[in-house]
Amino acid sequence: MERNKWMLMRLRTLAKLEVDAMGAYRAAMDRVSEQPIRERLEAFRQEHERHAHAYNELIVRLGGDPVSMRPDLTGVVLKTITSVTAAMGTRAALLALLGNEELSNGTYGVMLRLDWPPDLQRLISECHADEHRHRAWLEETVNFPERPAPAESEQRQV
Ligand SMILES: [Fe+2]
Repeated sequence: MERNKWMLMRLRTLAKLEVDAMGAYRAAMDRVSEQPIRERLEAFRQEHERHAHAYNELIVRLGGDPVSMRPDLTGVVLKTITSVTAAMGTRAALLALLGNEELSNGTYGVMLRLDWPPDLQRLISECHADEHRHRAWLEETVNFPERPAPAESEQRQV
């Protein structure tokens, strides 16, 4: 396959993953009442949005069609989250997000083993680091939602 097409296909996969994660975080926030947790979920949602925009810019630069910024409502990710009801509580919503972050981290792990130009490799590594941080926070907070893990000293900008 031509190298450009190869990269476009994979960048679209990553962009879709990020857009679906945005949807998952928004849906989870509707099921969480604790303000500190909601704020953190919104910060993570915004990071996913930044990643999706960064991938879409690259896709357009490479001559491809950007992915829609609307999450796939029929996708597995959102279906999992929306199966959680407010009555099931914050922990169930965080567990669903944690499952999603584990999938994202796995996909990033595979993507990073592929042969990318250095600038793309850097962007994908930075996004992966954010995913890693999201997962770590969720892992910690899911066990003690009454006292969410403290904010990191820095929020990465991509
Ligand atoms: Fe994430």
